[in-house]
Amino acid sequence: MDNKGKAVLSYGDGKTLEMPVYGGTIGPDVIDIRALYGKTGMFTYDPGFLSTASCASKITYIDGDAGVLLYRGYPIEQLATHCDFLEVCYLLLNGELPNAEQKKSFDWTVARHTMVHEQLARLFQGFRRDSHPMAVMVGVVGALSAFYHDSLDIANPSHREISAFRLIAKLPTIVAMAYKYSIGQPFMYPKNNLDYSSNFMRMMFGVPAEEYEVNPVLVRALDRILILHADHEQNASTSTVRLAGSSGANPFACIASGIACLWGPAHGGANEAALQMLLDLQKEGGVEKVSEFVKKVKDKNSGVKLMGFGHRVYKNYDPRAKLMQETCREVLDELGLHNDPLFKLAMALEKVALEDEYFVSRKLYPNVDFYSGIVQRALGIPVSMFTCIFSLARTVGWIAQWNEMISDPEQKIGRPRQLYNGAVKRDVPPMATRG
Ligand code: ACO
Repeated sequence: MDNKGKAVLSYGDGKTLEMPVYGGTIGPDVIDIRALYGKTGMFTYDPGFLSTASCASKITYIDGDAGVLLYRGYPIEQLATHCDFLEVCYLLLNGELPNAEQKKSFDWTVARHTMVHEQLARLFQGFRRDSHPMAVMVGVVGALSAFYHDSLDIANPSHREISAFRLIAKLPTIVAMAYKYSIGQPFMYPKNNLDYSSNFMRMMFGVPAEEYEVNPVLVRALDRILILHADHEQNASTSTVRLAGSSGANPFACIASGIACLWGPAHGGANEAALQMLLDLQKEGGVEKVSEFVKKVKDKNSGVKLMGFGHRVYKNYDPRAKLMQETCREVLDELGLHNDPLFKLAMALEKVALEDEYFVSRKLYPNVDFYSGIVQRALGIPVSMFTCIFSLARTVGWIAQWNEMISDPEQKIGRPRQLYNGAVKRDVPPMATRG
């Protein structure tokens, strides 16, 4: 961190406090307020962390105004074009892209961890068949810590490394099992001569009775979805993973907490909501009804939001949305669905919204979820599985961030403070006198 001088706070009766200002390599400077409470007796108030950097990180950089996303300094557009998902995993975890030999060794190690303990497979029988697959994911990923006791010492870097491999390798197997369980088909064991995304597609859509044929265009689309969702700096689920990890919780428990947070409709559930919105609009009349729908979105009393639009950080076009739109076109072409009405509807909705003063003035642009639902649907992934795919992709980001936190000498247990505005101290009245 570069020392960039001091910020001075005036408070009380002419008192002042000098606080150091630090600069990163790019992005806004930060004011170090750690001494604030000790010196002034005051906290800062920042619900939703709109102005608070909770950590220093070298992993991902976002410039929301410019629509820039970098993993370890590399633009997402280049990574999504030139790399596969496991290369991106290596990059996020290790800080550099692998050379050919490192890639071969990394891919080999991931492939050797794809199976899950047979007992874990039985855990699925305890869930109702109609459970939401994310409910199953939270439970099963949390349960991994009951199966892999040999790698739970978080102070030991080799334990952290093996847990990282286990999580990256087993998540596709677990996601596919959650899907197979929900439709009553047998689980498919992984096939390690396939690449990561082909293996996942086979475990999702293959059946033991038939050979599964890999379609490279569809596999590449899935791989791109995984790359685009692999990390996104200190978002809600990543912050959840860091907070859970700050207490010393084991990595499987921390990732399960991230999955639970991701499930929310304002976060990972948004692609499900965006696709549902398009399907509903399609039913109500499609492109013809776009203007009417946009009018409803702008009416605050309607409670209707344009799902897949707007982002806490991006106040410009989400760079991932552009790539996802491109992938959407490729997949629909491959499947002979050039005239897919949902894609046409999404493009029409986007066009109207991007020209409308309401969206322009609030800097609301499509986010990655606007098109990812259409792509996943075309790949044959049911809506209820969308957030599971997101959690599979984000697992590597969560692990990289968790690992960075554990190795950070400045790391402390996360413990936000509050502005208390409840009742002041009072005595418990006898029952008979209570109103
Ligand atoms: N549709 C209509 N209006 C919107 C939308 C939207 N999708 N998003 C924001 N607005 C409006 C708000 O009503 C608010 O208007 P106001 O200033 O008149 O009150 C203004 O834009 C600012 O919105 P905030 O909610 O303050 O923005 P914030 O940064 O807190 O929220 C969020 C971001 C939660 C993503 C929001 O844009 C949203 O709910 N979008 C739809 C859900 C979605 O697509 N989520 C995916 C996020 S990406 C991801 O998790 C991978």
